[in-house]
Amino acid sequence: VGRVHLGLLGSGVVGGGLIDLIAKNQALIGERCGLELIVQRALVRDLNRPRPMHVEYTTDAAKIINASDIDIVVEVMGGTTQAYEYIKTALQNGKHVVTANKALLAQRGNELFHLATQQDRCIGYEASVCAGLPVIGTLRQGLVGNDIESLYGIVNGTNNYILTQMAEQGTTLEQAIQEAQKLGFCEADPSMDIDGIDAAQKLVVLSELAFGMHVQLQDITIEGIRHLEQADLKQAASLGYVIKHIAIARKVDGRLDLRVGPMLLHKRHPLASVRNEFNAILVKADAVGEMILQGKGAGAMPTASAVLSDIVDVALRDAPVHLRKLVKAEHGASAEGRYYLRFPIVDEPGVIGEITTKIGREGISIYDARAVLEDESTDGNVMILTHKCSLVALNRAVQAMQDQLRKAPVVLQILERK
Ligand SMILES: NC(=O)c1ccc[n+]([C@@H]2O[C@H](COP(=O)([O-])OP(=O)(O)OC[C@H]3O[C@@H](n4cnc5c(N)ncnc54)[C@H](OP(=O)(O)O)[C@@H]3O)[C@@H](O)[C@H]2O)c1
Repeated sequence: VGRVHLGLLGSGVVGGGLIDLIAKNQALIGERCGLELIVQRALVRDLNRPRPMHVEYTTDAAKIINASDIDIVVEVMGGTTQAYEYIKTALQNGKHVVTANKALLAQRGNELFHLATQQDRCIGYEASVCAGLPVIGTLRQGLVGNDIESLYGIVNGTNNYILTQMAEQGTTLEQAIQEAQKLGFCEADPSMDIDGIDAAQKLVVLSELAFGMHVQLQDITIEGIRHLEQADLKQAASLGYVIKHIAIARKVDGRLDLRVGPMLLHKRHPLASVRNEFNAILVKADAVGEMILQGKGAGAMPTASAVLSDIVDVALRDAPVHLRKLVKAEHGASAEGRYYLRFPIVDEPGVIGEITTKIGREGISIYDARAVLEDESTDGNVMILTHKCSLVALNRAVQAMQDQLRKAPVVLQILERK
């Protein structure tokens, strides 16, 4: 097991979430990747705030960025001034860096990436855009062989929550903001979200990666949602559309069109069904075609999940994945469910009754049944949908009806969404 010593700059929502997640999944990470992650120290402002006991807290950044006992510096403090200085010093001191800070990357990312290359160090930034969605890894590695044509994203969960509430609950913008604040999706000052700045910062990070061009915030046409009224959402709905706050980067004649703003999407558009605080990214690329990532774009655990993936990525740097011995679920553990059955029958009097009786005898109840006779023949099929039942009981029923069937039946489980 390789030991990796982490120094956290910040231990708030994300940093605290990371400490909890490491404690929770330490054994799993050890088995999966052969790593032991040790949170050596964490920088905070206020030492008196209650926090997990097993970590050493400090108000002195030097104890992290200059410390010889730290391998990876995890910046989860936010802001663009001190965070910049600390990351710079950490890289100069030969440390890898993982950051969740899209505001800093949008402003000074290029400088920091350049320095990291010079120092032969990595900067992981999966958590900086859409937290729990592995969008950075997808663009960096998964789609590296593709020419990307366009990228459309719902990248601000606050705006998406507000617009969903306005559309579905008929609330005003102000009411929806208050509700989002109550649920912790929205800062006390919601301007960065509702004026579109946060989405634009994320678009800088995403579009540089997807299109390999240097992008700055001022290259993006930015519109927020402040001016939208109930009437707009109502009208859109009556026309078959939903209004979503969308970030777009797409190639137009070799140039990059970069926009952030509210737009109408047909209700069957793949992004139209992304509701509330959820985020989604739709990428169109030459080899894969259309691809969507959808999930939670903020919050302690989804963001910690992304930070942790960077930490492991940086720590492993191409080491092989370790596989554990398989622990198989009990035979048939996932076989209980609803089933579709097709019985090829010889249409003799009473056959259908026999089949349904034999199914009933096993305690399986039928949800729908229909018989279809084949053309010019008396043979046909009986189709049955069952309520939830065990496959063992179903197999027994099928065994018992061999005499009524002219061929083996088709038995398909219905995949439930939950
Ligand atoms: N929250 C999310 O869902 C989310 C999602 C994606 C990305 N992010 C990004 O992650 C970063 C952190 O966000 P957060 O929500 O975890 O923030 P937060 O809850 O406010 O936590 C910030 C932490 O940094 C410490 N800190 C801040 N400034 C400091 C300074 N000058 N010196 C020493 N310590 C300082 C704070 O110390 P105290 O605890 O003593 O106050 C706190 O522990 C931001 O860049 C944010 O954009 C957040």
